[in-house]
Amino acid sequence: MASPDSSVRRVIRPLLTGVAVTLLICSCGPAYLAPQVTPKLVKVSRSPVSSLNRGYEVHQAKCAKCHSFQDPSDFEIEELTEEIMPDMARKSKLDAADEKAVLHYLLAARQVPPAASP
Ligand code: HEC
Repeated sequence: MASPDSSVRRVIRPLLTGVAVTLLICSCGPAYLAPQVTPKLVKVSRSPVSSLNRGYEVHQAKCAKCHSFQDPSDFEIEELTEEIMPDMARKSKLDAADEKAVLHYLLAARQVPPAASP
């Protein structure tokens, strides 16, 4: 027979582990959802909608493998264009066309506030 003490521990321990894991994930700041290609996003962008759609698709398929959506409005346009995207495209092994599509998408998404993930 298990003592009352050990059954309490059986309940408490997973709870504490859950809290620890949640804190670990949340310590990197709020996780954002990548905004979808809505008419609003298309309107603020100068890029063709096909490129925005492709950029969103590639973001979800490749970039989101490593991290949640990083709010592009935290960065200057030059930073995104000249430093971050070349670096992240290499990490994601994107070809030139997909790199451009994700950049177009990020520059559009930069102008719409991202929603915090639930
Ligand atoms: C192999 C994992 C990996 C992939 C794939 C990846 N990233 Fe990242 N990303 C990172 C890491 C690690 C960091 C933080 C350190 C750094 O800047 O290298 C980061 C940081 C970022 C940042 C913040 C840059 C900064 O200076 O703080 C942005 C924006 C970003 N990634 C966007 C993307 C986009 C867009 C894609 C897809 C094209 C992508 N990432 C794909 C690993 C990845």
